[in-house]
Formats: sequence, structure tokens, C-alpha cells
Amino acid sequence: MCGIVGILGKSAVSTNLVEALRRLEYRGYDSAGIATVEAGSLARRRAEGKLRNLETRLLSDPLDGRTGIGHTRWATHGRPIERNAHPHMTAKVSVVHNGIIENFRELKATLEAKGHRFETDTDTEAVVHLISDSLDRGLDPVAAVQEALQHIKGAFALGIIFAGYDDLMIAARKGSPLAIGHGSGEMYLGSDAIALAPFTDTITYLEDGDWAVLRRSGVEIFDSEGARVDRPVINAVASSLLVDKGNYRHFMLKEIHEQPEVISHTLASYLDMANARVAFPDLGVDLAKISRVTISACGTAYYAGLVAKYWIERFARLPVDIDVASEMRYRETPLPKDGLAVFVSQSGETADTLATLRYCKDNGQRIASVVNVRSSTIARESHAVLPTLAGPEIGVASTKAFTCQLSVLAGLAIAIARARNTITPEEETELVTALTEVPRHMASLLHHDENYLSITDVLSKARDVLYLGRGLSFPIALEGALKLKEISYIHAEGYAAGELKHGPIALIDETVPVIVVAPEDELFEKTVSNLQEVAARGGQIILISDAEPEKAGCKLAGHIQMPKVAPLVAPLLYAIPIQLIAYHTAVQIGTDVDQPRNLAKSVTVE
Ligand code: M6R
Repeated sequence: MCGIVGILGKSAVSTNLVEALRRLEYRGYDSAGIATVEAGSLARRRAEGKLRNLETRLLSDPLDGRTGIGHTRWATHGRPIERNAHPHMTAKVSVVHNGIIENFRELKATLEAKGHRFETDTDTEAVVHLISDSLDRGLDPVAAVQEALQHIKGAFALGIIFAGYDDLMIAARKGSPLAIGHGSGEMYLGSDAIALAPFTDTITYLEDGDWAVLRRSGVEIFDSEGARVDRPVINAVASSLLVDKGNYRHFMLKEIHEQPEVISHTLASYLDMANARVAFPDLGVDLAKISRVTISACGTAYYAGLVAKYWIERFARLPVDIDVASEMRYRETPLPKDGLAVFVSQSGETADTLATLRYCKDNGQRIASVVNVRSSTIARESHAVLPTLAGPEIGVASTKAFTCQLSVLAGLAIAIARARNTITPEEETELVTALTEVPRHMASLLHHDENYLSITDVLSKARDVLYLGRGLSFPIALEGALKLKEISYIHAEGYAAGELKHGPIALIDETVPVIVVAPEDELFEKTVSNLQEVAARGGQIILISDAEPEKAGCKLAGHIQMPKVAPLVAPLLYAIPIQLIAYHTAVQIGTDVDQPRNLAKSVTVE
């Protein structure tokens, strides 16, 4: 969840550490800090809150060391205050850490009994004292870290520097990702390659359990058994331009507007557009023979999976089991022989999704993952990877990753349906043609910001908002509510429209806006009945539909006119207004759209 960086430089590294941390702020921004080796001793600067506070601190109190580590924090253990900010250190060693040390209480008790004094509420400090203790007993830094790693339980990525060692940094990875960057007479460490993009694109990813000794001349990598191993050196394309806001006010708005383009790229890799047929890669399993598909993911990615359930069941007539990964990982769900398990994740590092993937793999499933970060752990542990071509998504609220996930999953549903002969070639052509038209429809939807002003006026005054949808629109209602609550902090809930009368209707009065996602499909009339029930109780209805507003049969507080499209692609298009409604409401309220409170982009803890 946190972001870590390290540099063995030719000159002072503090400016470059901060530059790299800026690219990792999406992983957490509760506090930030750096530590360097200054004339043989360790020194650090830390600040509560965003990275700019650390920059201000460094202006008045600079660091000049050529060897340093840095950290941007998403708090797990201990409040987000300066005392708990990384790096943590003793006089001998300084550590930055991403992840959770599960046995820190036991370690702390043992170390305190030996006379170590702890200053923070963090789990990380146990690692610092553990290494210090080994150094006190005369071990050299490499042996001290190797010994400490035997005692630490949990998921972690560590960057470590030592007093008196200007040309040494040690890194270790278990569960949390870590990339090593190769420079010319310089070496780098980062939570991902994007952090290192301004300095190098020559990258080595540590494998799970690896630890590495970095010196300016290069790196030696060891596996969990301590054996020297070679890991590939790759060229990672993470251009600095890709993470620029351009002319947009927020990354989220830029990413919403990128959707027609990234959807085109994504669809182009899964469809034979010229012949209007699906052109899906071989998943290494006979799609005609699978008896069930299991899908798991978290948050927005889970809602993409929920849409896929409707698609696969409808077009391929194949049962789909879906659950949020945090539940499925402990559910001990029985799995069919030779089943296909699909995992959906933007980051490819979400801890719960990864754990569920491992459960399904251990239980004989063929694993396919829909991921945006191709070098991620989830991608690497899958039998087949179905990349989304969304490019880096920086805004914490997922937008373009979601619609790219839907694009891949729509292709998958058609591919399974074709293999199982549940659609005719003519139907396949119709579905593929509908998908091909999505980028054009999206582009036209993105040019009407004025439609949202009166709606955001209503929403920004509300305390609670309900989202309703039926069938394929139900996951979109859930996604709409998630989007609104995460960036505007307004309480919002999504419901299957038919569930309204089983409880949520009690909430409705004239202060509660109800956003109804209702394409004019075979379920439209049913949803209109629910809309009447809301109107009868004074709720303010905002309708998102391709139907004329008159068809609602009641007064509307707002209406977004959608284009007429095939039911298959409606979720992709209806995602746009729900993203824009959330975005404009948050802007009107004045929240931090790209970095909403308490959240992080990559959730690598349970
Ligand atoms: O990286 P992942 O797709 O696995 O992340 C899953 C969720 O944490 C993520 O979708 C989260 O719900 C977003 N902030 C929603 O906008």
C-alpha cells in the first residue's frame, strides 16, 4: 500500500527521492520521509500529510547524502503522524517498508526485553531493531538482514541503508512488489517501475522471497534459501509523459476522457474488427468443456466481474460464481474439476485478489487474469493474462480501468458463447459490431459537461443518495454509488431496483436523490414501476436512459439522455455518466478528487 524508493547516486539524492515518491503518492499519502547516509551517519526528514510538506521541510533543512531511501505512507499500524512516518531508524540502520509485519508484537516484546527502546506505533520498527540487534552482536549488514528475514512473518517490501556504508542498500520482497533499477554507476529501488521512470527504464523485478544487495556497481539477488539467483533485466516502458495531468484539472477527469482511446486499443487486441468476429487468445483450456466460471475481485474490479457474470450466463449459458475476494479467500468454496477462474484487477497487486487466485490455483483451476499492470504479481501468477490497455491509472477512483476491464470481459463472454455454440455467427457479428461502436458513442457522451451541472447541484446538497438498476444496470448502480462515496464523501448505496420495496424505500423522502440507471431494454418497464414508487414518496429522481424523459411518467430532477445501443454494451456507456456525476459533484464540494481521504490506489494489505 505504501510506496518505497531507494537511490545509490553519484551526487546528493534527496531531490530525486522526492521526485520518485511523487510518482508513488497514489499508493498512500498520509505522510512521507527520506533518510540518507550523511558523512557516515544516518539522517532523516519526515513530514505528516502530503509530499509537498516534506519538500517544504527539506528546503529549510536539506540532506546531502548520495545514498538514500524514501517512503510515502498509507497508515496500517499507528496514526498518520510524523512520529509514525517512515523511514524508521536506529543509529545503525534505517528502513522503509510496504506491507504488514504480522508478528511485530512478539518481536517487539523480545527486543524490548533485551533493552531496545521503541519510539513509534508501527510494525516496521520491529524490523529496524531486529537488524540493529544483529549488528550489535557483530554481524555485518548483509548477514544481519539475512538473519532478520528468518524471523519476520507477513507481507513486505523493504529498503534498508546503514550508518558507515555509503555504497550499500539491501532490499527484500515477500508479497509486496519491488523493482530494482539499473543506472550508469547508480542503482535504484522502487515499489514499481513508474517511480523510477525519470532515472532508468532498465528494471529487474524481485520474485517473491527474494532479497538483494545493491551497490553502485550492480546488484546481487538471493532467493529465500539464500542461494544466489539471476532475475531477468527488462526494458520497462513507463514514460514520464504517461503520468502527466496534461491540460486537465485532475487525473480522474483526464482518465475519464481517455476512455474512447484506451477502449479502442483494448478492443483491438481481442476483436477481429475487420471481420466482426472475436479474436480471443488461447486460455489453455477448452472453453466448450468448462462447467463453470469463477470470478473474484475487489471494489470496482468486482463490479466489472459482476457485469461479466450477466454476460457469460446470458450469451454462453454457463453458470458463473462470483464473490468479492476478501470473502472468497476464506470461504473454502468447492471448485469444479477443470474450471476456469478469472481475476480482475487494475493494479494486479490487490492482496485479497491474489490470495483467492492462489486458492483457486491450488484447487486445480485454470487461472486467467484481467490486469492493467502486466508486470504485476497477479499477472505473473496466472496461467493466462488478458491485459487491459488502459495505461497508468493515477486517480484513486478507477474509471478507464473499469471500462477496459468490461471490454476484455465482453470479449471473453462472446468467446465462450462461440465455443459453446450458444450464439450464431450472425449474433457474434452483431455483438462485435456493437462493441466496435462503443468508443464513438463514448466520445460523444464526453462533450456535454453542462448536462451535469443541475444534477451535481442536487447531489452536493444531499446526505444520502440511492442508485438503482436492474439486470446489467445493477452492477453499474453499485459502481455509481462507490464512485460518488469515495470521492465526494456523500453516503451512497446501490440497489437492484426490485429490492427497493424490501427495505431501502424506507429511506426515501424529498431530501434523497435517487439515480436510476435504466436503458430501454426488456426490463425498462419494471424499473419504471420502481421509479413511480420513488416519485410517490417525494424522492428526487435522476434518470440515465436512452428513453425519452416522458417515458418515466413522473417529474424528474435530472435526466441524462443516452444513445440507443445494443444491451451488451450498455454497461460500458452508462459507466460514463456515473463517473462524471461523481466527478463534478466532488469538484463542486471541493474534495481532493485524485487522492480522496483514507484511500490508496493499490491495496496490498488485507
Ligand atoms: O487494483 P484493483 O483493481 O485490484 O483494485 C481494486 C479496488 O481496490 C479498486 O477498484 C477500488 O475499489 C477503487 N478505488 C474504486 O474506484
